[in-house]
Amino acid sequence: MHFQWYPGHMTKARRQMQEDMKLIDLVIELVDARIPLSSRNPDIDELGRQKARLVLMNKADLASEGQTKRWAEFFREKGYFVVKLDARSKAGMKAISNVVMEACQEKIERDRKRGIQNRPVRAMVVGIPNVGKSTFINTYAGKACTKTGNKPGVTKGKQWIRLNKNVELLDTPGILWPKFEDQRVGLLLALIGSIKDEILNIDELSLELIQILKEHYPGVLAERYSLQEGEPAEILTQVAQNRNCVKKGGELDYSKAAALVIDEFRSGRLGKITLEFPPEPR
Ligand code: G4P
Repeated sequence: MHFQWYPGHMTKARRQMQEDMKLIDLVIELVDARIPLSSRNPDIDELGRQKARLVLMNKADLASEGQTKRWAEFFREKGYFVVKLDARSKAGMKAISNVVMEACQEKIERDRKRGIQNRPVRAMVVGIPNVGKSTFINTYAGKACTKTGNKPGVTKGKQWIRLNKNVELLDTPGILWPKFEDQRVGLLLALIGSIKDEILNIDELSLELIQILKEHYPGVLAERYSLQEGEPAEILTQVAQNRNCVKKGGELDYSKAAALVIDEFRSGRLGKITLEFPPEPR
């Protein structure tokens, strides 16, 4: 699902999020493990203040395991609970339920002191488009769960998914707007496929990707495309040559080679690759 964001969309999304926040105890925020900062909108910190916070590093199957560990540490230090995830797989969902309970321990304790027992924890899934929110809700909630209707004190029309006796999930995820006014963020979002390709210059995009790969994953391109690593433009030329990307007249088709490299990165065929790196620990 691709979105074009306009100020009107953002205002509406923000207002909706503010309303939904009143109903929940825990914010489950999905980020893309390949670009954990650029795929989040820090406005959620303001919107979700005073709520328990869980960051799910999704699409971890496509990201470097070492970097995912470092990023998890980075988020933990900032006070979030963190779980890495492949939202398409059922494995790991039980671990999430445990962390959800852990994250909400304070609230459960507060309830207990006030004599409230066994009130389920309520959570909402949020994230920018395409991070895997719907996939996660489907896998996490599965088929076994029951949807609960309106309840006293709950805004009319809200649907809750009862996951187990302890946890309820709002069935529609909160959509956060990406921060693509920052050029680097826009570039990284484009690389993972979160911005329409038609509006991008695919050649330039591939050169940026090649630069990152060359710097942080030396040898990956050389091996995949049987080439000598050099300047990004030279690498792209060799990809075009070695993968037979030629136009009708026999001229090299750089755009075809560019699209190939980007596609192979996005699908994981270049390996597990993270494009953004946490600051070095002090
Ligand atoms: P959204 O609600 O946040 O907008 O995201 P959505 O669940 O629609 O997921 C966006 C795409 O990301 C989907 O692929 C989905 O299958 C894929 N995806 C979600 N989680 C993961 C994950 O952990 N790992 C990987 N590798 N992919 C994930 P799609 O191409 O749009 O659809 P489809 O071809 O999979 O049906």
